[in-house]
Amino acid sequence: MSQKTIAVGADHGGYEMKEELAKQLDGMGFKVLNLGTDSSDSVDYPDFALLVVKAIEDGNADQGVLVCGSGIGMSIAANRHKGIRAALCNDAISAELARQHNDANILVLGERLTEIVKAKQCVERFFSTDFEGGRHERRVKKLG
Ligand code: RB5
Repeated sequence: MSQKTIAVGADHGGYEMKEELAKQLDGMGFKVLNLGTDSSDSVDYPDFALLVVKAIEDGNADQGVLVCGSGIGMSIAANRHKGIRAALCNDAISAELARQHNDANILVLGERLTEIVKAKQCVERFFSTDFEGGRHERRVKKLG
């Protein structure tokens, strides 16, 4: 099986967590496309959501991770794009369900609201869980 590529992005509110999660993903054997931001200097979250969305749309990444302060701005920005299912998660079970039921293709986390230990559990579970299909396939198709 070919190595999956995961695009990661964050604003200043999610920068530190994004760096940690990029290392974790690398350790899990994924190819990591780190699209910034690259410091804690203030930037705008829609710009980085768009970079990760584009990477998936263009086929340069299979899935993504987005982090901002709350996770809310990144979710709103990413979910404006057709075919993107960005799930804001805060524990392993929400990350698992986002994959099993929603076929989420971007995991979103909020650095200011979720402990790094929990965020790492989300990454672990999200990227090791498959979509269940079946009745969920019909529902996901209705999302467009
Ligand atoms: C930045 O201060 C903060 O607004 C941003 O990281 C995010 O939480 C937006 O939803």
